[in-house]
Amino acid sequence: MQELGADVLASQRFQDAWKIPHHGNVSVAIHSLHVAKESLRLARWLNRHGGHVNEKDAVCSSLLHDIGMTERVIHKSKPWVKAYTHPTRGSTLAEEEYHVNAVQADAIKRHMWPICVIPPRHLTGWIVTAADKISSMKEVLGNQKTTPVLQEKDGVGKHDGIL
Ligand SMILES: [Fe+2]
Ligand SMILES: [Fe+2]
Repeated sequence: MQELGADVLASQRFQDAWKIPHHGNVSVAIHSLHVAKESLRLARWLNRHGGHVNEKDAVCSSLLHDIGMTERVIHKSKPWVKAYTHPTRGSTLAEEEYHVNAVQADAIKRHMWPICVIPPRHLTGWIVTAADKISSMKEVLGNQKTTPVLQEKDGVGKHDGIL
């Protein structure tokens, strides 16, 4: 999976995400890695059962789905404002800085469904939406086995325990 998301993982903005808290002690970067792992698991399961999910789309859009949180104005805003603004801003950032394709941009923009009422247009978006909710629940419940290892320090290489 590291190969599929190498460009994102090495980017400065993703590096910044290691320092931004998200769910409790889990940073935006760790959460995004959890989502990427879950999305890849779902994509591979679907592909084994006749699906045609592009694994790179699933991993990259998962790694970038909360990248809007790296914008200070969004990160510092009230929770309900953040919930509605980070997907749209994240999708724009992903297109401008990571040149994501339309499938990935849509997955990022729509991952907060049903809070944001417009659903994803592609299967990849549904995978990221589901993986985000599964991962968030595990993080909130402290049920994500890899998390403690990954909280020790910042930087590239911390994702070794997840990917
Ligand atoms: Fe999100
Ligand atoms: Fe998320």
